Amino acid sequence: MLKKLYVNFGNFLLSFSDAIDLAYSKIASHQIRTAFISWEIAKAASLPKERIKNLFIAALFHDIGALSIEEKVSLIELEDIDPHPHCIRGEALFKSTPVFSKAAKIIRNHHRPWNQWDTPITTSDVFEAQAIYLADLLERKIDRKQYILHQSENLKEKIVSLSGDQIEDFWLDLSSPRLYSTLLHFGPFRVVEIDYDNIFSIATLFRKLIDFKSRFTATHSTGVAECALILSKLFGLTEEEIKHIKLAGYLHDLGKLAIPNSILEKDDRLTKEEFAIIKQHTYFTYSVLNSIGELEDIAEIAAFHHERLDGTGYPFHVGAEKINTCARIMAVADIFTALTEDRPYRKGMKKKEIKKILKSLSQSNALDKKIVNLLLENFEEISRHVKEKQLVSREEFEITFSDIIK
Ligand SMILES: [Fe+2]
Ligand SMILES: [Fe+2]
Ligand SMILES: [Fe+2]
Repeated sequence: MLKKLYVNFGNFLLSFSDAIDLAYSKIASHQIRTAFISWEIAKAASLPKERIKNLFIAALFHDIGALSIEEKVSLIELEDIDPHPHCIRGEALFKSTPVFSKAAKIIRNHHRPWNQWDTPITTSDVFEAQAIYLADLLERKIDRKQYILHQSENLKEKIVSLSGDQIEDFWLDLSSPRLYSTLLHFGPFRVVEIDYDNIFSIATLFRKLIDFKSRFTATHSTGVAECALILSKLFGLTEEEIKHIKLAGYLHDLGKLAIPNSILEKDDRLTKEEFAIIKQHTYFTYSVLNSIGELEDIAEIAAFHHERLDGTGYPFHVGAEKINTCARIMAVADIFTALTEDRPYRKGMKKKEIKKILKSLSQSNALDKKIVNLLLENFEEISRHVKEKQLVSREEFEITFSDIIK
């Protein structure tokens, strides 16, 4: 029996914010550092607590609308790139997430320069958006290869002075590799907890972020979650376990945020090096979810989907004794869904081919025989439900991300 879910909201936010900047040293910690600067600005301006929290959330996820690593890097370097699309997508993603919806307008306007506002700066949302604008600008000017206090004077001259006795602390905190833990223990969300419904709504936002990176995977996590959900009901799991499975299905490929689209969308065989990069994704899924605390069960169900009972999976190479029923279901659901979908190098497969592959994987003891049989016995029903859910997801994708559909 799995326990009820309650997690520390601050840790949850920080860990998911980290996930956006994963795996590329040029952008590492950009969101979290921008949030720290915005938070300092908000405190210096004596903003009310609720507005500070709202600003902090917006800043932690301000570039959430930039879907690929390539787009994020261009934004940081402000190459020839129009920043509006990521602001619009970010606003749409925030609007559809109840705990974040109040911050949607701030995300929408975080690249709007000072001279393009008619409303006075004292108005809420305007101040917040400008705080992020400034914080983002400052964060991008920091040279990560240089010692921070050697740059601080220069940076101060370039941007508005953040004066006060604590100024050296500010720069040191900002560049510290321990900023995560500083914000966790001293940030605006120290003792706030969130429950399953709110966790689920943020997971839904991330499900879109993960899937909408590429049109090939645009409905993948929706499909995996639905397939795993039906299998777990057929298997007779408890209500609590079924909830965990749905959440894990939405987040199982979370680590794909760290994989460049050039690899995800390659229409040819992957090289050994490219496959090694792909293999990192479940490691990151595990690491982001596990560092939140209280989500260890979900982390395993989500991150073991490429592990195999005979130990031939990746990246942890755990075997049957470490893979519980929920994780076994996730592995079967992931393969089934992937086989039905088009990939850049092949078309989605038909029932006969899928059956053959799943049977051979269960015969070699890579996948759980009982679960594969359950899927094969209910093939039509599961396929129909998965397709229905994926259709809804495809519509969401086309509405919110029409600008990137090629
Ligand atoms: Fe941005
Ligand atoms: Fe940014
Ligand atoms: Fe995966």
